[in-house]
Amino acid sequence: MKKLIIINGPNLNLLGTREPDLYGSLSLVEFLDAIKAKYHNIEIDHFQSNIEGELISKIQEVGFSYDGIVLNAAAYTHTSVGIGDAVKAITTPVVEVHISNTFAREDFRHQSYIAPNAKGVIVGFGLQSYELAIQSFLNDAL
Ligand code: DQA
Repeated sequence: MKKLIIINGPNLNLLGTREPDLYGSLSLVEFLDAIKAKYHNIEIDHFQSNIEGELISKIQEVGFSYDGIVLNAAAYTHTSVGIGDAVKAITTPVVEVHISNTFAREDFRHQSYIAPNAKGVIVGFGLQSYELAIQSFLNDAL
């Protein structure tokens, strides 16, 4: 059974209440329940932290044994050399995701320290961005 993990960075614990026009009205728990129900034939773990070092430790912990990481590092995407280095250091492929279209927003959101070492980047499809990333790990044969 494939083993994936969704890792969410700062403020994503507030999904559903935080700027719903941008990030939707589903809570993180509701969203994870729906994803796990839909993809019940694979193991999908989840980790969320508002703390940069905790995100780095989790990436290191799972980064040599899991089949894929779906990473929304949120604001740290645009600032964290440390998370970028962690993604580079591991062997598990990482797909960077964003709910909003970061390229349609402020200039500082156009920069990513993760993208250069990611397998790919999925941006701007709402919560579906996560689902597209999961599917990318399932469609190896294409
Ligand atoms: C985000 C985009 C980031 O720029 C922002 O800081 C977030 C969420 C997104 O999923 O659209 O917190 O990663």
